[in-house]
Amino acid sequence: MEPPSVGGGAAHNTTHKFHPCDEAVIATNDDASDCKRCAVRLGYWKDDYIGYFVRNQERKAPEINRGYFARVKGVEMCVDKFLKKTGGNCQIINLGCGFDTLYFRQDTAHQVKNFIELDFPTVTARKCYTIKRNKALLARINAEDGEVRLSPTDLHGPNYHLMGVDLRNLDEVDSKLAQAEVDYTLPTIFLAECVLVYIEAQNCHNLLKWIAQKFKSAVFVNYEQVNMNDRFGEVMLNNLRSRGCSLAGVESCLSLETQTNRFKDCGWSGARAWDMVQVYESISAAERQRIERLEMLDEGELLLQLFQHYCLAVAWLGVDFQDLDITCVLSKGFAQFNFINLFFILSVEDLMSSLNIE
Ligand SMILES: C[S@@+](CC[C@H](N)C(=O)[O-])C[C@H]1O[C@@H](n2cnc3c(N)ncnc32)[C@H](O)[C@@H]1O
Repeated sequence: MEPPSVGGGAAHNTTHKFHPCDEAVIATNDDASDCKRCAVRLGYWKDDYIGYFVRNQERKAPEINRGYFARVKGVEMCVDKFLKKTGGNCQIINLGCGFDTLYFRQDTAHQVKNFIELDFPTVTARKCYTIKRNKALLARINAEDGEVRLSPTDLHGPNYHLMGVDLRNLDEVDSKLAQAEVDYTLPTIFLAECVLVYIEAQNCHNLLKWIAQKFKSAVFVNYEQVNMNDRFGEVMLNNLRSRGCSLAGVESCLSLETQTNRFKDCGWSGARAWDMVQVYESISAAERQRIERLEMLDEGELLLQLFQHYCLAVAWLGVDFQDLDITCVLSKGFAQFNFINLFFILSVEDLMSSLNIE
């Protein structure tokens, strides 16, 4: 599975030493970015910047588009609440950021004290290269009197830092955060969208523990797979394995409980998690109705299954952000889906055959 060459040739000019699966893990960023681009083009949410990073115009299945809508909205709901609470006097650290555009597209996130993005150097090199070549992106980073410093894999602006690092190497993470002038005393929100699941359990444990020891007041927003020990999970794992990608951290993705326990086991003060059925239901009814009119679903079963196999977990350090929550109001929509679920027992293979799920 060769990633498309968005951003061109700087990508391999890095010193990162590959583990056997890294290439396939890195390629998941292309899948995620293509899907986000497709959903944006269809009007699921507004993003004037994703098109710079992704040229692929391939149309994805409606279920995938809705899944990405719920994912992006779910993360944004948490970020918005955090920003409101801190009044912008805070940091955002996007782990395994890929080509995510939050810094560029959202004014409040853009104005925080420090916005730090980390990914493998192969990925950040491509992101740096694209930023360097596009004035609209550079202008967004470059404050009036600020300057942008660039290396092949790293970029430093007045309040934006994009850096290549392997998150399994904590010495390297420590040194990169120092280069970004991270403030360990400032409230900080960590974002990880489909990232921890690719990191071996022990490495992930070390990373979460390290963060818990270093930061005084923080929130971690983690979006990824859940309920992976059923038939659907098994098929998803097999699909990914056939693309050379094992989910090395899958043991934390067995239930909402394993998702939250891993934070508590690493010294976080508390954690909560919701499956994406609940997250979707917490999005305003008007917004849901708007996007549900964009594309017809053949039937609701696949979307329901997808939503039941992804979750949003929020963990916190200290007491300031323990109330950071999604507001969950159950409505008729998924009551209907649950009804369908009882009567249409399609094979999981049929449901997933047309989808390229990361
Ligand atoms: C599925 S993509 C998601 C990208 C982005 N978070 C998004 O949602 O658009 C997973 C990302 O995690 C990154 N990643 C996984 N393991 C990593 C590691 N050990 N160090 C740095 N980045 C990693 C990959 O390179 C990839 O960009």
